[in-house]
Amino acid sequence: MDRKPRDKDMNEIVSLCKRRGFIFASSDIYGGLQGVYDYGPLGVELKRNLMASWWRAMVYERDDVEGLDGAILTHRLVLRHSGHEATFADPMVDCRSCKSRWRADHLVKGKCEKCGSSDLTEPRPFNMMFKTTVGPIVDDESYAYLRPETAQAIFTNFKNVIDSTSRRLPFGIAQIGKAFRNEITPRNFIFRVREFEQMELEFFVMPGTDDEWHEKWVAARQNWWMEQGLAKENLKLYRQTKEELSHYSKATVDILYKFPHGFEELEGIANRTDYDLGSHTKEQGQFKLMARVEPNHDSVEKLAVRDAESEQFIVPFVIEPSAGVDRGVLALLTEGYTVEDLENGSQRVVLKLRRHLAPIKVAVMPLARNNEAIVDMAKQIKAKLQSLGIGRILLENTGNIGKGYRRHDEVGTPICVTVDFETIEKTPAKVTIRDRDTMKQERVAVSELPQFVREYFRPSDSQ
Ligand code: GAP
Repeated sequence: MDRKPRDKDMNEIVSLCKRRGFIFASSDIYGGLQGVYDYGPLGVELKRNLMASWWRAMVYERDDVEGLDGAILTHRLVLRHSGHEATFADPMVDCRSCKSRWRADHLVKGKCEKCGSSDLTEPRPFNMMFKTTVGPIVDDESYAYLRPETAQAIFTNFKNVIDSTSRRLPFGIAQIGKAFRNEITPRNFIFRVREFEQMELEFFVMPGTDDEWHEKWVAARQNWWMEQGLAKENLKLYRQTKEELSHYSKATVDILYKFPHGFEELEGIANRTDYDLGSHTKEQGQFKLMARVEPNHDSVEKLAVRDAESEQFIVPFVIEPSAGVDRGVLALLTEGYTVEDLENGSQRVVLKLRRHLAPIKVAVMPLARNNEAIVDMAKQIKAKLQSLGIGRILLENTGNIGKGYRRHDEVGTPICVTVDFETIEKTPAKVTIRDRDTMKQERVAVSELPQFVREYFRPSDSQ
């Protein structure tokens, strides 16, 4: 019977991540930096595969979305006019007994998590943006922010993208990149961290069609997560209450996933209305951010589109599906992590990742690590499969096939290819292919291997 770690706790996943090289605490040798993690050799592959899958679905497979890669350092006025300077804050309390600090809305029954005291200060807002100085002169004007969301670069480049692509409504701009938040209490491994990655789409629509588009995007995003392998029963939709909405949102639906610590937000799909384009359009004092002189239009070129019929400028509404990459990785690890009882009484850990997400696609294993002919053949096969462009192919030359299978089950490698004595002695040369999930083995001719592997990893077959 399969046993899922969520029935217990997060420790098994954290342990697998460290042991097998998915995720490490950052600056570990100096004691770690709280709420910051590094992705190891396998983590980087998994994360990139997830981001590539998102980019494929959001940009390549659609005809109404462009991509963008904006800067992380952000002009302070962008985040002033976006409302983040004034409102991007969480309520913080201090414990008077042990002097620790907490996010007020995370405390259970208003008690300090460290010492249990109820003697806490009144909550006060703590702005989560990281500030940094830019240039050699440090004064009140020389600071910038590390962006707290990728979205703002999309709004500030709205005109540039329209002008360079001639897009008309409805259309979207997609971006994947780092975001930074000085979380009061980072927790639950990579779930709530201070440096993370977002996959965001800002989809611009005609005002009045926004509710309909919002619903469409909620459904599309839920389906996409299921295509990445998350089970329907582990996903839930949650409509935020008026009190919970961000300052820019008219309505937000969260996609919750059943993480080891419970159902929590994986992605939010917000109706940001014309809030951001509108805010950046207003004349911004001496800086006139985004404002280029246009004689016939209030001396300011708006972040707006000209309606062909009415000739009026319209500020589009924005629907924003915004997903966390790190939370996505944690969800995939949680969903995939499976402990199976085998017939011989032993157990195996299998990471059941969909093929397109697996960090290593194929492990090629020589049966005898010191046999030159076998190792050479394995190397040739590795190079041939690598040239197919389906992702990382690994030469696993430890000489212990049993251990190799166990290791690759644990890290989710869909197939292992074993090169043995028969491979080099018999004609036609054949190798053993072993499937991660069924553990079934079959012999395939080396000449047919590229075709077999290509078929196996066909994008439409990403199971
Ligand atoms: N642009 C909209 C926006 O940033 P958000 O709900 O604050 O909205 C979007 O963040 C997504 O980013 C969340 O659903 C979550 O997946 C991810 N995220 C937010 N804060 C995070 C944190 N501290 N650590 C990891 N992921 C985070």
